[in-house]
Amino acid sequence: MQVIATVAEMAAARASVPGGVGLVPTMGFLHEGHLSLVERARRDNEALVVSIFVNPAQFAPSEDLDRYPRDMDRDLELLARERADVVFVPTAEEMYPPGFDDWVDLQGPLVDRLEGASRPGFFRGVCTVVARLFRIVQPDRAYFGQKDAQQLRVIRQMVRDLALPVEIVPMPIVREPDGLAMSSRNAYLSPDQRENAIALSRALDEARQMVQDGVRDADRIRSRAQAILDETEGVSVDYISVADEQTLHELDVVDRPALLLLAARVGATRLIDNTILVPPGVAVSPLLADLLE
Ligand code: PAF
Repeated sequence: MQVIATVAEMAAARASVPGGVGLVPTMGFLHEGHLSLVERARRDNEALVVSIFVNPAQFAPSEDLDRYPRDMDRDLELLARERADVVFVPTAEEMYPPGFDDWVDLQGPLVDRLEGASRPGFFRGVCTVVARLFRIVQPDRAYFGQKDAQQLRVIRQMVRDLALPVEIVPMPIVREPDGLAMSSRNAYLSPDQRENAIALSRALDEARQMVQDGVRDADRIRSRAQAILDETEGVSVDYISVADEQTLHELDVVDRPALLLLAARVGATRLIDNTILVPPGVAVSPLLADLLE
């Protein structure tokens, strides 16, 4: 496994690979969710590149860039076990060299709402770094988790709008046995907060059950999720959305594949989670079927 820190060496390594290349972009502190992407990318491609870069451009000044969890030695050990060919670990200066001033700043409702509204500049930072990684690594396929459902859809839109020659492969959410979605930020939670955080996945489970039981009124689903989170100590809701699964337009009636998306603070830690809601009898694409819980 090669560990590469410069853009020039990464580009040279890419040029020497004849077959299909899979890229798993990460910010490190790897967990089972990341490893599910890595394993799939390993199976699908002749060569596997994993990037580890805590991207300053996607953190607002008030956010947790400085204390974002990092453990490069452990990450490299895990990736060696997964038989990664290259781990790309650029510095901020490599990714944003002096004078860098070209940003990928998508417009429109998909980027303005939810995470885009709560974290101004977040998608500009994500799209810029991901576009730059695509340019440097030139992957045939890139792998993203459904856990960051809006990010996944924004990246798909970027690839479509900019005609980037890469296939985006979505992967299902990986959860702890008690339902908490895997996230590097779970490391911030105290034991009590960790317990309270299960309320997010409980709200999602209940919403899925409501839809199975015939509830179509999106407001009833939002209200029930709000009630579950409100009654849990130390949890404060940022947003609850029931939206069209593809466009993320807010819905009045769940009459098609939809997403329930949650963002909440558990203590000081902001967590996001989501689930796919499919009314019985409504058809789903094979790609979406693979993401169902
Ligand atoms: O999802 C993440 O870990 C990051 O947003 C990504 C896609 C690696 C870009 O920095």
